[in-house]
Amino acid sequence: MESVTRIEPREALSALEDIVIQRRATPHFTSEPVPGEVIDTALSVASQAPSGYNLQPWRFLVLTDAEQREKLRAAAFGQEKIGEAPLMIVAMAGRSDWQSRADDIFRTRAARTGTDWAQVVPVKQGALAFVGKLPPGVWENRQVMIAFTYLLLAFEFQGWDTAPMEGFDAAAVRRAFALPDDTEVVALLAVGRAREHDPVHPGRLPVSEIAYREQFGTPYVSRDSEESAS
Ligand SMILES: Cc1cc2nc3c(=O)[nH]c(=O)nc-3n(C[C@H](O)[C@H](O)[C@H](O)COP(=O)(O)O)c2cc1C
Repeated sequence: MESVTRIEPREALSALEDIVIQRRATPHFTSEPVPGEVIDTALSVASQAPSGYNLQPWRFLVLTDAEQREKLRAAAFGQEKIGEAPLMIVAMAGRSDWQSRADDIFRTRAARTGTDWAQVVPVKQGALAFVGKLPPGVWENRQVMIAFTYLLLAFEFQGWDTAPMEGFDAAAVRRAFALPDDTEVVALLAVGRAREHDPVHPGRLPVSEIAYREQFGTPYVSRDSEESAS
């Protein structure tokens, strides 16, 4: 993943825009399996997501086995598409799990940047103290959703359809897959081929209503439109 081919920025932007505008939450899937290399690539892209202090707390449970998907469906209010989609991914973070990797992560960074370990230790302690002050699960959700979004887009960019899902009972998911008690189950992703035409785009709030300019409440106006008006 570290070798980088520079893509012409306009081309990259136009591909991203096409994907995000055309993507819909897929309501029903065919049984066509998702090839292993597609899954590998998507997981590899997700692993490159940024995270606070680079702690990378996300973990992904990849389910293709029909019985395992049925277990997940039972823990997710019986949502039909979980049984249909040939691939389900549970995105989660376990506090003791990610904390146990913090030393490795900070050591790798120190080695790569040529920083003395003694200088890194207070940063690591500061990171853990910061996270420890937040209500349980808040920090994990913040981080995992970034990697989850990378994952979803990586499948879409490879021509597969996806459905993000929050309709599940986290305790039931933990029980079904014997996840440690301190696991925050963040989201589910169904992946496969849409069985029917995509639903219509349900619409989005305009940018002027979701972005502010300099002051909270002052609608964001593009600089370009201001310049062309003057
Ligand atoms: C985090 C998240 C959780 C969602 N959970 C569910 C779900 O449990 N079941 C479902 O049918 N759709 C779920 N959706 C799909 C949304 O309803 C859908 O994304 C939204 O209506 C916008 O439609 P679009 O994705 O086609 O643009 C979820 C979407 C997101 C982003």
